[in-house]
Amino acid sequence: MEKDYIQLKDKVSVVTGAASGIGYATAELLAEVGSKVILLDIDSEKGNQAAQNLRDKGYQVDFLKCDVTSSHDCQHVSEEINRKYGNVYVLFNNAGIIKRKTVVDLEEAEWDSVINVSLKGVYLLSKYIIPLMASGEGGSIINTGSGWGLKGGDKAAAYCAAKAGVVNLTKAMAIDHGPQNIRVNCICPGDTDTPLLRDEAKQLQLDEGAFLKDSAIDRPLARLGTPRDIAKGVLFLASDLSSWMTGTELVVDGGGLA
Ligand SMILES: NC(=O)c1ccc[n+]([C@@H]2O[C@H](COP(=O)([O-])OP(=O)(O)OC[C@H]3O[C@@H](n4cnc5c(N)ncnc54)[C@H](O)[C@@H]3O)[C@@H](O)[C@H]2O)c1
Repeated sequence: MEKDYIQLKDKVSVVTGAASGIGYATAELLAEVGSKVILLDIDSEKGNQAAQNLRDKGYQVDFLKCDVTSSHDCQHVSEEINRKYGNVYVLFNNAGIIKRKTVVDLEEAEWDSVINVSLKGVYLLSKYIIPLMASGEGGSIINTGSGWGLKGGDKAAAYCAAKAGVVNLTKAMAIDHGPQNIRVNCICPGDTDTPLLRDEAKQLQLDEGAFLKDSAIDRPLARLGTPRDIAKGVLFLASDLSSWMTGTELVVDGGGLA
């Protein structure tokens, strides 16, 4: 009999920003290893379609609408999940947005929206989901940072601030919730081919093809990441393979930061 190193079968996973890109690929990979996955997203239409696609492949998934900047939504989905599933084992706090602007060019509302989705959202949903992990056997939280949470980047001031915040919030959460057998780690992707990356070209008024090529070339593996590349790192952090890892960040970027 094959050994199960992952140990996520029938455990409940919650993924934010799950209608697209990295969130969707991770929801799919978690479902492939037998986890029951709840997809959360602000976009109901895309989220319902994403869940339907995964159900069509035979996976156990649900979609719930959740704006991670809304305390009401985060509390509501946690109550729904508790009612239907009881405990949660994996929480992937992944929703994020980017505005490619300097502090001078950023409108205050743009600063607030980037910080609220990408950083405050991690706090808010964790606030309501951690009790559902602690009342079970514990679990694993993975927060999406970025290479730009570890170093600076151009014309992305609010995003760099939010992602650096996610990196250190991860460590604070790991310290607080280790005693509840909850591990908290951060995944730091490099440029990954998703709608978010392609939208950056638009925001910077650059040709999309040239922007994607430039983003790929400047790293040892000389290609963009796929959402599945990042999902594999998240699966590692979610699974028993990383059983003694907490409070750290995993860089998945084709060697870009090196
Ligand atoms: N793509 C990259 O190159 C890259 C690199 C580093 C980090 N990241 C991070 O990865 C994460 C996922 O990004 P992606 O590239 O898959 O983007 P994406 O745009 O493909 O997906 C993001 C999803 O988040 C959802 N979302 C936006 N605001 C939300 C909110 N308030 N509440 C709930 N859901 C919301 C969107 O509807 C969308 O489905 C983000 O945190 C992003 O910052 C991406």
